[in-house]
Amino acid sequence: MTARPSLEIVHPAIEEYLKGLAPDPDPVLKEMEVLAESRSFPIVGPLVGRLLTLLALAVGARRILELGSGYGYSAYWFARGLPPDGEIVCTEYSEENARRARQFFARGGIRQRITFEVGEALELVERHPGPFDIIFMDIDKESYPEAFPKLLPRLRAGGLLITDNMLWSGAVVRPAADAATRGIQAYTRLLYGSQELSTVILPLRDGVSVSLKR
Ligand SMILES: C[S@@+](CC[C@H](N)C(=O)[O-])C[C@H]1O[C@@H](n2cnc3c(N)ncnc32)[C@H](O)[C@@H]1O
Repeated sequence: MTARPSLEIVHPAIEEYLKGLAPDPDPVLKEMEVLAESRSFPIVGPLVGRLLTLLALAVGARRILELGSGYGYSAYWFARGLPPDGEIVCTEYSEENARRARQFFARGGIRQRITFEVGEALELVERHPGPFDIIFMDIDKESYPEAFPKLLPRLRAGGLLITDNMLWSGAVVRPAADAATRGIQAYTRLLYGSQELSTVILPLRDGVSVSLKR
């Protein structure tokens, strides 16, 4: 695999400043972050996490679908923006991640609201016609374009499609040298070319796009 060029998206001092504005006392989240650090596992992190909670609250979300849930860190942030009877469908390749996620959710008191399904996300979504208020995309980047046509029909009008890693450490600004960067670039064209969506990419952490379905 070709190494991707690494451009600074947010200056480290700004990132630290932003994190310092809202330190989160939740011990479960903290443990998830320590685990990510120790294993170099790519979670969205607390700045994007806060954004996920806020967006769930902003659209009055009750049903959320996640593609690529890891051990549940992003879902945990979404859960904070849901009403008690809201639900999240998580999808994830790894049984080990799913097991960890269930433990974290149980300790955070949010287990009842989350269904965790193990397998290929693109196949698992077929079981869930929706409509969802939010769909969150965070699977292998080369699969983003293939996933796109499955997402819009499952999203309600006024719902949000949120996607992580849209700036991919800055690799997207150059012609793609690898499948992941090509996937993100093609997916970006699909988002911006869609008549059904209004999209913005926020240069937060590794780039998060927020697309509103009209
Ligand atoms: C970047 S991590 C997700 C982290 C999670 N969204 C968070 O921020 O806490 C991506 C996860 O998606 C899973 N994954 C990637 N491609 C997938 C696919 N096609 N189907 C199911 N899971 C996938 C990986 O196993 C990994 O755990």
